[in-house]
Amino acid sequence: MPDWDSTQEYVRTVFGAQERALEDLMPRAVRAGLPAIAVDASVGRLLTLLCSMTNGGRGAERALELGTLAGYSAIWIARGLQKSPPGRLITLEPEPAHADFAERAIAGAGCADRVQVRRAPALEEIPRLRREFGDESLDFVFVDAVKTEYLEYFRALRPMVRRGGLFVADNVLGAGWWITDASGSDGSRDAIDAFNRAVSSDDDFETACVPLREGLLVARRRDDTRA
Ligand SMILES: C[S@@+](CC[C@H](N)C(=O)[O-])C[C@H]1O[C@@H](n2cnc3c(N)ncnc32)[C@H](O)[C@@H]1O
Repeated sequence: MPDWDSTQEYVRTVFGAQERALEDLMPRAVRAGLPAIAVDASVGRLLTLLCSMTNGGRGAERALELGTLAGYSAIWIARGLQKSPPGRLITLEPEPAHADFAERAIAGAGCADRVQVRRAPALEEIPRLRREFGDESLDFVFVDAVKTEYLEYFRALRPMVRRGGLFVADNVLGAGWWITDASGSDGSRDAIDAFNRAVSSDDDFETACVPLREGLLVARRRDDTRA
């Protein structure tokens, strides 16, 4: 068995470089009283990369994030949006102190023109987004909000993901618990287990798990028109 902690440390060292604005962001957020529960740079880099590979390799025209916190992952996603015309990211955050901090951080990183923070809980805002943009309107989705709601997020967003678009979720292997803990030991663990099984068995998606940090699920909506 590999030593998981030192393997993760290796990943952070070799794949965790980040721009100065991002390096300072979470330490500043924690000093301002926000919780230290953002993704790290190794996950952030993957988010940029995945987002930039959607929309025929041009980068997402429209992306959605559930759970903004301080804007750290939003900035990584924004770096993978379509360049011209610029793609847009909407990120949902119901906690006012988090949204206030995130808006400043996003502006500081030069992304204010591309990233909009909407101050609403995901399950309230998703139906509004569907009315506003319609089905098959999202190239890239990143889910990082309430763990017990992940399956509802997937069901609500499933028709909104474009063919060939990506649905990505964090914490699919752990978040203060591990997926290998006993069933019934934690409500979030059980909810994520049900979510993982539902997405991975959905015929309309091709799904993989990236066991980076606390685990990412990466699901691509099938595109029958692909040669
Ligand atoms: C794990 S943090 C997000 C971290 C962020 N994605 C990052 O890596 O930089 C989860 C965030 O979801 C927010 N949140 C809580 N309930 C929510 C809901 N119902 N809808 C959307 N976001 C929610 C929390 O306030 C918190 O800021």
